[in-house]
Amino acid sequence: MKNQVLEQFNKIYPDASSPIIIRSPGRINIIGEHADYNEGFVLPAAIDKAIYVAISKRDDDEIHVYAGDYNESHVVHTDAVAISEKHWPNYILGVVDQLQKRSYKIAGFNLVIDGDVPLGAGLSSSAAVECATAFALNELFGLGLTRLEMVQIAQKAEHTFAGVMCGIMDQFASMFGKKDHVIQLDCRSIEYEYVPLELKGYKILLLNTNVKHSLSSSAYNERREQCEQGVAWVREYNKDVLSLRDVTMQMLDDHVLPKDELIYKRCKYVVEEIQRLLQGCKDLQHGDVNALGKKMFRTHEGLSKEYEVSCEELDFLVDAVKDDVDVIGARMMGGGFGGCTINIIKEEAIEGIASRLKPLYKQAFDKDLDYYIASIEDGTSFVTYELSELKSA
Ligand code: GLA
Repeated sequence: MKNQVLEQFNKIYPDASSPIIIRSPGRINIIGEHADYNEGFVLPAAIDKAIYVAISKRDDDEIHVYAGDYNESHVVHTDAVAISEKHWPNYILGVVDQLQKRSYKIAGFNLVIDGDVPLGAGLSSSAAVECATAFALNELFGLGLTRLEMVQIAQKAEHTFAGVMCGIMDQFASMFGKKDHVIQLDCRSIEYEYVPLELKGYKILLLNTNVKHSLSSSAYNERREQCEQGVAWVREYNKDVLSLRDVTMQMLDDHVLPKDELIYKRCKYVVEEIQRLLQGCKDLQHGDVNALGKKMFRTHEGLSKEYEVSCEELDFLVDAVKDDVDVIGARMMGGGFGGCTINIIKEEAIEGIASRLKPLYKQAFDKDLDYYIASIEDGTSFVTYELSELKSA
């Protein structure tokens, strides 16, 4: 990937000064879905699929960006950064806009972006782009931002330029990932702990439905509003309640169920998921991967039936492995409406299961099923290269 990005940089900007290269990974999440914006806990990790950004300064105030995935360029003056109809530049420009809003001076730059995080697969390629951009601009212009500040800027860019009112999980995981560890993140206090992911003969297998979750942003924002509505109803009786983190099932039964069954269902899923995660973390610490796996299946049930963010293809893939002794946990992952399922599966069984599922999936949906074994890697970082590599790229 590094060579590919260097090569593209050389080709698109032949006269530019040598770039710095940043790698920012996609993420998985073991458990704790739709918990982040409800101030609950999540258990994500950065993976071996990443976005790469090559960037260097220009002598003027123009921003030139090029995306390898689309073979497309976009140019804008630093005084005129705005949402683009092309869509992909927004994850970069949104970060520039956030920096400018915080009074950081951003001069002109040339940027190439590429990577191997499948787009729209629920692995947070967008957060990876935002984090790579924030890290790159921080370095290029010596802004002195902390990693957490960059995460917050990246998250805000997603709100303003992509219109998704996401929580902090994806950007945090991309930026703070640590090899072979998951991050137990408290999304209220932003305190976090790295927990070693020891799966003892098991691996993390991602099954990609190849359903792009492109219609998901309005539904995502709607879920968030439904959670806020539930909290507002509980708050009428208890002012100490600030988010679903503070809400119990009893409160939901007393104050939300009588008002609206749909909102009740949504909130119930989240309240239970926050508890489930805490138990799941204990399972992991005790090395009880089986117990954790069972909870993943329950999370899927909740996401599918109560939170209603799954889709036929995701349900199909979870159902298809539910009774397989080699798969100890599976569920849809991320925002939903497409993307991947995450499976904890016995290492020797991976090829067999993939070849069993592929034709079944093709027959049911006339779509291809892709699969990846995710390994857990470090978060956003520099990629070093020799000048000779640049010249020969
Ligand atoms: C998306 C969002 C995250 C999180 C997940 C669901 O990936 O970007 O903030 O809410 O959905 O857990």
